[in-house]
Amino acid sequence: MTPDLNALLETARATALEAGHLLKDGFGTSFRVDNKEGRHNLVTEFDHKAEKLIIARIKERFPDHIFLAEESGASGTPANTVRWIIDPLDGTVNFAHSIPIFCVSIGAEMNGELLCGVIYAPMTNELFTASKGGGAFLDGRQIHVSATEKLYDSILVTGFPYNAASNPHGCLEHFTRFISMGLPVRRLGSAAIDLAYLAAGRFDGYWEVSLQAWDVAAGKLILQEAGGTMTQYDGTTEHSLFQGTMLATNGRIHAEMSSVLMQR
Ligand code: IPD
Ligand code: CA
Ligand code: CA
Repeated sequence: MTPDLNALLETARATALEAGHLLKDGFGTSFRVDNKEGRHNLVTEFDHKAEKLIIARIKERFPDHIFLAEESGASGTPANTVRWIIDPLDGTVNFAHSIPIFCVSIGAEMNGELLCGVIYAPMTNELFTASKGGGAFLDGRQIHVSATEKLYDSILVTGFPYNAASNPHGCLEHFTRFISMGLPVRRLGSAAIDLAYLAAGRFDGYWEVSLQAWDVAAGKLILQEAGGTMTQYDGTTEHSLFQGTMLATNGRIHAEMSSVLMQR
């Protein structure tokens, strides 16, 4: 059966708002923080609380759907079933250090096709939404990627995986290259917000390696519906939600960014 995109989007929107308010209430309070793998890969009690709430709300509305969520992992077999891909708190390190840049990211897909995506940043109260073929919106107003034509005129954003010290895919050299070109490069610490801002035209380009499906699912659809492009670093190979390299741009600077990333 074809899923009802409006029903998916409405559920994602209401759930992201509720989870975002939970995070906002917890922000700056004292809460439990644990390490996952690696010294700086943190998880707080709010990651778990928000994820539980999101899954419970979606299950109330869609008891047959399945989940891929950062803290609780995968459930069910993803064939002909809507699968929700959830990052309950993207920007955990920021949250744990009282830096107000974090969000809830909820995407839904079926048979590999993204159906809806919602990113809610509670501290700025900004809600980014998209459904397949229906455009991308910020607080109900349609958004589009920037019109910047040249890399030279661009503002970029990036992020680093928790194992950046081992330099996967040459991520350290890539950062140095763009910085050495004199370009403004930001590192906000939330991949979903990076993608949402790119979709809204605040950034012109974004690259990162080793992202997980829950970092990207909602943002990928929002970006595409805002007219942006996402591939692997070579500029043409389809981006996989499941790891590897990611180059996301307004489309216009895609080839130029790709050639910087592919330099030997
Ligand atoms: C992280 C953030 C960060 C990115 C990391 C992610 P988390 O997610 O999105 O911007 O650079 O690769 O793991 O751990 O805050 O959900
Ligand atoms: Ca994340
Ligand atoms: Ca997270």
